Amino acid sequence: MTISYAPLEGITNWAFRALHHKMFSGVDSYYTPFWTPTVDSPLAGRGLTDMLPENNQGIPVVPQLLTNQAEAFLPAARLLQDMGYREVNLNLGCPSGTVFSKKRGSGFLTQPQEMDRFFDQIFSADLDIKISVKTRVGAESPEEWAAILDIYNRYPIHELTIHPRVRKDFYKGEVRMETFRYAVEQARMPLCYNGDLNSAQDCRDFAAAFPTIQHVMAGRGLVANPALARELKGGPALTQEELHTFHDLLFEDYRQRLFGPRPVLGKMKEIWFYMGSMFQGAEKPLKAIRKAKNLDDYTHAAQALFRDASLIPGGKFVQDP
Ligand SMILES: Cc1cc2nc3c(=O)[nH]c(=O)nc-3n(C[C@H](O)[C@H](O)[C@H](O)COP(=O)(O)O)c2cc1C
Repeated sequence: MTISYAPLEGITNWAFRALHHKMFSGVDSYYTPFWTPTVDSPLAGRGLTDMLPENNQGIPVVPQLLTNQAEAFLPAARLLQDMGYREVNLNLGCPSGTVFSKKRGSGFLTQPQEMDRFFDQIFSADLDIKISVKTRVGAESPEEWAAILDIYNRYPIHELTIHPRVRKDFYKGEVRMETFRYAVEQARMPLCYNGDLNSAQDCRDFAAAFPTIQHVMAGRGLVANPALARELKGGPALTQEELHTFHDLLFEDYRQRLFGPRPVLGKMKEIWFYMGSMFQGAEKPLKAIRKAKNLDDYTHAAQALFRDASLIPGGKFVQDP
């Protein structure tokens, strides 16, 4: 089974991926967070920095684009192809309000005719890069899924990653495994499963239930437990010491590279939203981390956490109900 690191906008930027790849084995590929190309500017700013080959040396990366315009997708895909990428991923799952209302991400799923035309254009273009898709199973209801899959089935999609939730679910509630099973029966392209695989055991349970699926993708579970993929491949479990080192190196990198304490604090606090589930006895320092207003407060709180709290044996990311 191969396992990929899911794209997490705001978290898995190039520096995060490089540090993760250096410290933890097991992840077969990393998907970049989405970049929205425009016709005039296919790749710029944060997206360009994130996808530049020199920032991703030695790391297996799949860049991801978010658009509903073939005229914007194609120049970006060509640039990525020229940079040496073999695959580009199209985001058809993002549930965020602005993305959805612009009919991109999961919003495009509500426009079957436009989506069909978009695929027709991108798959008939002269491109030498594989196109994969990451999708939800609908916007409002999983009843939309059969029609959406029908469209996908008409095109040579390299791989279809399915997060079996609808847009309305955002990232909560049970994953809709019956909808995924329908895809396993009906899809004409290779599938990758994504959703709530928060431990190596979760991945093994999934593999037992869906033995024909060779590829899975994990996001939040890997932020909480950066050694998840290593464990899945038979390697050792996460230790508190290495999580501490990972944390300190990431914090240091953000302090050097980001402008001012505010973005550094924002990024570090977000990671604790996931990593916090790994610890017992961490309520007080976690609260202090959430409340930290400057880098000194933050440093003290994080130090207290690594000193006073301990990893839960077999711990994993647990979502608040
Ligand atoms: C903070 C956050 C940012 C995300 N950013 C992206 C993104 O840029 N592109 C994408 O396809 N999915 C994005 N996702 C969705 C994840 O890739 C993944 O599909 C989702 O978290 C479910 O998988 P998991 O249960 O393993 O985390 C994001 C999710 C979260 C929570």
